[in-house]
Amino acid sequence: MGENVKVIIGDKTFEYPVSVGSENEKGFDITKLRGDSAYITIDNGYANTGACSSAVTFLDGEQGILRYRGYPIEQIAEKASFIETAYLLIYGELPKKDDLNQFNRKIISQLELPKDIQKIFDAYPSNGHPMGLLSAVISSLSGFYPKLASSEVSADEINQTIPLLLGHMNTIAANIYRKTKGKGFSAPKQDLNYVQNFLHMMFDGKVDETMVKALDALLILHEDHEQNCSTSTVRMVGSSHANLFASISAGVGALWGPLHGGANQEVVEMLQDIHKEGGDVDQFIVLAKDKDPNNKVRLMGVGHRVYKNFDPRAKIIKQHCHDLFKKMNIKDPLLDIAIKLEAAVLKDSYFVERKLYPNVDFYSGLIYKAMGIPTEMFTVMFALGRLPGWIAHWKEQHDNPKSKIGRPRQIYTGHTKRDFVGIDNR
Ligand code: CMC
Repeated sequence: MGENVKVIIGDKTFEYPVSVGSENEKGFDITKLRGDSAYITIDNGYANTGACSSAVTFLDGEQGILRYRGYPIEQIAEKASFIETAYLLIYGELPKKDDLNQFNRKIISQLELPKDIQKIFDAYPSNGHPMGLLSAVISSLSGFYPKLASSEVSADEINQTIPLLLGHMNTIAANIYRKTKGKGFSAPKQDLNYVQNFLHMMFDGKVDETMVKALDALLILHEDHEQNCSTSTVRMVGSSHANLFASISAGVGALWGPLHGGANQEVVEMLQDIHKEGGDVDQFIVLAKDKDPNNKVRLMGVGHRVYKNFDPRAKIIKQHCHDLFKKMNIKDPLLDIAIKLEAAVLKDSYFVERKLYPNVDFYSGLIYKAMGIPTEMFTVMFALGRLPGWIAHWKEQHDNPKSKIGRPRQIYTGHTKRDFVGIDNR
């Protein structure tokens, strides 16, 4: 018999089974608690609630471990490509050479977008945020590919949708950048790989191999992060059997917020503000620690819901950032400010006691900036990287016959019953 957990409410005791994961993570299943006792559990921000079992990514925030399908992120970032990692995340195993070549070919052949998508780009306000356009265009794909957007898609159709979405996303993201620059649509080239094509389309055919390498690594580091806000959103939307395009579009919306993917944009803006104010890091830290309820300032790129020791992605990104700046001979005062800020955070008792460390976004924005990508595009870059993870989770949930629609409970705190008052008597 497996381990059970006893819940005592008044003079009654209820027992619930414990699920144990492959890394010995434990959770007890309270599905029957409400039926047994009329109680629900409350967990603000789902900080300690497991919404699913998943075999995609393992993360141990205390020890700073991140593994995709069992492979350490450090090894993947050093040895794999973005597309190879996408295959691993989505299909569960590293691809053989032929599988990878075929997957790559299918994706590259799907870089071309349906012609009418350009009209959506044209209609979107030129100063509108790129994430709004990204979400809208991805959602619109359900109109361009109605068969793939049906709730009854076959496994074969899902396997068609995956390279299509990966390919289309690349061209959509590159052309969103072009729109921010007031430039027309750019076409992909079949003889370039995924990341080369992205840079080719963005930068009018200019593809710098140092940038290709840095961008590939950056995209890998963003590829999956288990049940984060946007991935949980993709799963939640997908749980109603909404199609992959609609689910990913919703994930883009969730990623947009500054507490999630929007943080990389905020980091660079914060560093720019500190620079404008004369570069006084200590003064900014004092502000970020101020507990006045009206003070909304936080140190962006610092802290994480699950990493309480260090963010392994931040360590790798920091190295790539230094390498890129060195190789391209870039001098950016914001990098110096970031280094000073990081050093100050690591020895400040406020951050140490709360286990707040630089996260993945602390250095990623500086790399994008060095590549000439504008700040409002940063979260689009995050989305491009995160897409394979979103797809892997949507597919895992879709393929699981035991999946249920996501539908949390609540504790109602509004008025108790009262009688309606007609408009003349209010
Ligand atoms: N600057 C100053 N104080 C902070 C910060 C920060 N960046 N982050 C957390 N704290 C404080 C917070 O005020 C609270 O203090 P106290 O206990 O005195 O009230 C304590 O630390 C715990 O914070 P929390 O908000 O309860 O923690 P959380 O787990 O809900 O939030 C977080 C995690 C990432 C939203 C938060 O650390 C944050 O806002 N960081 C800055 C935004 C950021 O960089 N986000 C990107 C996350 S990494 C990319 C991704 O995976 O999405």
